[in-house]
Amino acid sequence: MHGGIDHRFSVLFVCLGNICRSPMAEGAFRAVAQERGLACLVDSAGTASYHVGQQPDPRAIGVASRQGIDIATQAARQVERDDFYRFSHIIAMDRANLEALRGKAPRDGTARLAMLLDAVEGRRGEPVADPYYGDLAAFETAWSIINLGANAWVDKLLREGTRQTV
Ligand code: 4NP
Repeated sequence: MHGGIDHRFSVLFVCLGNICRSPMAEGAFRAVAQERGLACLVDSAGTASYHVGQQPDPRAIGVASRQGIDIATQAARQVERDDFYRFSHIIAMDRANLEALRGKAPRDGTARLAMLLDAVEGRRGEPVADPYYGDLAAFETAWSIINLGANAWVDKLLREGTRQTV
């Protein structure tokens, strides 16, 4: 996990395997947050354990790299109990991920759970389709939707941040 000091927010992106969508979301969000001056811890994880320790899918690495974003240094991990206390927001890629998170969340967990496209006007509740069994075009599509969501979350957190007093 990387992040600036003095952060008010900490965001964990979650998909199933943590090798396709959530690593792209972590990379896209970190880049937008840095550009827009939002200090935020950013990480990603999977609800499943199949790919723990693995690098992101080469297609995800390729799509991100064409946008100038390096996600190759990430390693997959599974969501853990502490995440529900350490992060202010846990953001799922699809409904199944969100339901899995609700099932794992401790009763007194403090993280807010949401879906990536919830922050996008008119697209609340829509999923980011899983590109794993798709072709390269599916990864390109996933990237552009994820980038839309990342921008919308940075906007939302910047607005929330300026309303708060420290
Ligand atoms: P992700 O994609 O959830 O976006 O990382 C998947 C990766 C692996 C599998 C499914 C989805 N899998 O079944 O192994």
